Parts: sequence; C-alpha cells; structure tokens
Amino acid sequence: MADITPAELERWLRCTDDSQLAELWERADRVRRDTVGDEIHLRGLIELSNHCVRSCAYCGIAKEHTALTRYRMGADEVVECARQAQSFGYGTVVMQAGEDYGLTRELVAGLVAAVKRETGLAVTLSLGERPDDDLAAWKAAGADRYLMRFETSNRELYKRIHPDLGRRLSDRISQLQRMRALGYEIGSGVMVGIPGQTYADLVGDLLTFRELDLDMIGIGPYLPHPETPLGREAVAIFTDTPDQVPTGELMTYKMVALARLCCPQANIPATTALATINKKDGRELGLQRGGNIVMPNLTPIKYRALYQIYPSKACIDETGEQCNACLDGRIRSIGRLPGSGAGSALDRKLQTQGTNP
Ligand code: 5AD
Ligand code: FES
Repeated sequence: MADITPAELERWLRCTDDSQLAELWERADRVRRDTVGDEIHLRGLIELSNHCVRSCAYCGIAKEHTALTRYRMGADEVVECARQAQSFGYGTVVMQAGEDYGLTRELVAGLVAAVKRETGLAVTLSLGERPDDDLAAWKAAGADRYLMRFETSNRELYKRIHPDLGRRLSDRISQLQRMRALGYEIGSGVMVGIPGQTYADLVGDLLTFRELDLDMIGIGPYLPHPETPLGREAVAIFTDTPDQVPTGELMTYKMVALARLCCPQANIPATTALATINKKDGRELGLQRGGNIVMPNLTPIKYRALYQIYPSKACIDETGEQCNACLDGRIRSIGRLPGSGAGSALDRKLQTQGTNP
C-alpha cells in the first residue's frame, strides 16, 4: 500500500462528511483484517501503584494532587491478578503505575520474574520515565514490552504539560528508542484534543508512530480533570489556539483509523478513555475502525477509584470477572473472537518479513 501523505492525513482529520468517513472506517477495518486478523487480544491491566513523582499538567494522579489517597499493591496481590488473567485466557498482563520510585528496580524485577514463573504470560510494563539501568534490569528479569505514550509530537506543547523532574529532562521519544535497543517491544500513543493541540500536530503524531515503528499505539481523547492545572485552565488555551483540534469521540476514531493505515501491523487498543466518553459502544466502534486490542481492568476493586487519571473512568465499580464477561460479550457482539497467545506485533512483523535479515 502506498504511504498515505501528510496532506491526505490532514484532509481526513478535517473531514466532516459522514459518507466519506464511512469510507475511512471501512478502509481501516479492511487493513486491520488483512494484517492483524479478526482476533482481539486482551491485555489484563494491573494498576499497581498510584504514587507518582511527576507533575503532568493533565493527570489526576500527579504528585500535586495531595488529597488523593495513595496505594501500592503487594507482590502477592499482583501475582494473584496475573493468575486471574491466566484463568481468563489472556496472553498478556500490563503492570502500570505512576512514576513511583517506591517500586524499586529490585522490587519490579522480582514482580516480573514471579509473574513469568507463575503464569508464563507476556509482561508489559508501563511505569513512566525510569532510568536506563532499571529498564535493562526489568528486561533481564523477563519483561517483554514497555508502554509509554509520548502524548504529543509538538515539542513545545509537550514541554508545557510535562515539567522536567529536577535536572532530568523529560524526553519520552528518546527513551522509547533506547527501550527498543534494549529489546523491548515498544508501545506509545497520544491524547487527542489537548488544549493547544492543532491538526498539524496530529499529523505529526501519526508520522511519529510510523517513524518509531511502534508495536502498540494507544490513542484516547483528552478528558479534563478538575483537580489538575490543565483541567482548570483549559478553556482559555482552547479558545486562544488557532486551529485547535476538538477533543472527543470522532477525532479519536479518525486517529485510530489513520494510525491503522500508517502502521498496519501495530497493535491498536480501543482505549478505556474511549469507553469513558461513549460507555455504550465506544470500545466496539474503536475495534471496528482499526482497533484489535482491549485492556480489561484487573486491578482489585478497592484501588480502582484511586487510579482516576481522568474523571468518570469506565470500569471503576466492576470486578475483574465483570470486565472480563463484559468484554467477551462486546467482542462477540461485533462478530470477532478473543485472541489466543501473546499477540506480539514484533513476531508478526518478523513473520511477514520472512527470512530477510
Ligand atoms: N485525559 C485523557 N487521558 C489521560 N491520560 C492521563 N491523563 C489523562 C486525561 N486527563 C492518559 C495519558 C497517559 C495514559 C496512561 O493515560 O495518555 O499516558
Ligand atoms: Fe469493565 Fe465493561 S470492561 S465493565
């Protein structure tokens, strides 16, 4: 397939005509079927700690949110969640947390090794901008993948909403490249409709997905959180930015569909943020417009409300069993099937390349 040009990407992002958009959804769905197939892989999400040393201007668990009760799961609880993932037939667990140095290098390496030993599942980590030595130790302990969204390819906007940590500059793109070199499958992604984000920025995001050759691409709508600086100040920035992209469902679907056209082999989830703005069928529409992954929440119910990176997050009151049954039904309702195995994008890419070096 000829590469889609930046001008075409921008034209789609600005398109408001339903019949033309139907063509985009159809095209993305076809490419999805031809490259990653009909299986939908389930990644069990364990939100293992809501401690965070960072001050991301949009995030509900940033360190400035002092009223929030903080938690860190014990190793036994984490392994129990992983066992549950295995019993539901998932191929992967995702261990996600704020950037929490209470999760020490040794502690996380021990968790990874324990989950691998007890379940054999693929392990994805999503623990923020950690030093390279931590990342190397976790890879050696058996971690397979790392997720870290770069949030926006606009460097200025990125800087505005991601304060550096003391003298350590925040640079997620270069960290993603280093993780790839360490042997991780790498996942990243963006929020859509950040105050100050333009159409040209979204085109830049899609081109960056392609340049980084991402294995997984998570795209969700930006949702203002009232306890954050950006949630409080957004209106003024929004109205002051010429060419501001609207946040919301439609723009998110367009980005999902275009990400599929730009990176046919990638794993692309229908995100929880999408399910949050359209609880009825946001996930299903994401899966029918390019997506092939869902991330059922396995976090013990007593912790879920404390991990509200944005408000009214879907699945706050449901248990792991309930999310599992819910997603199984949703997947089957659109004529697709839960996947088997780890669903590795890297393996898929290697297979397509055959024996070429
Ligand atoms: N709205 C939408 N998505 C958010 N995230 C964090 N805060 C918000 C918000 N207010 C997303 C970021 C982060 C991921 C874990 O959740 O993209 O990388
Ligand atoms: Fe959690 Fe539907 S996935 S309730």
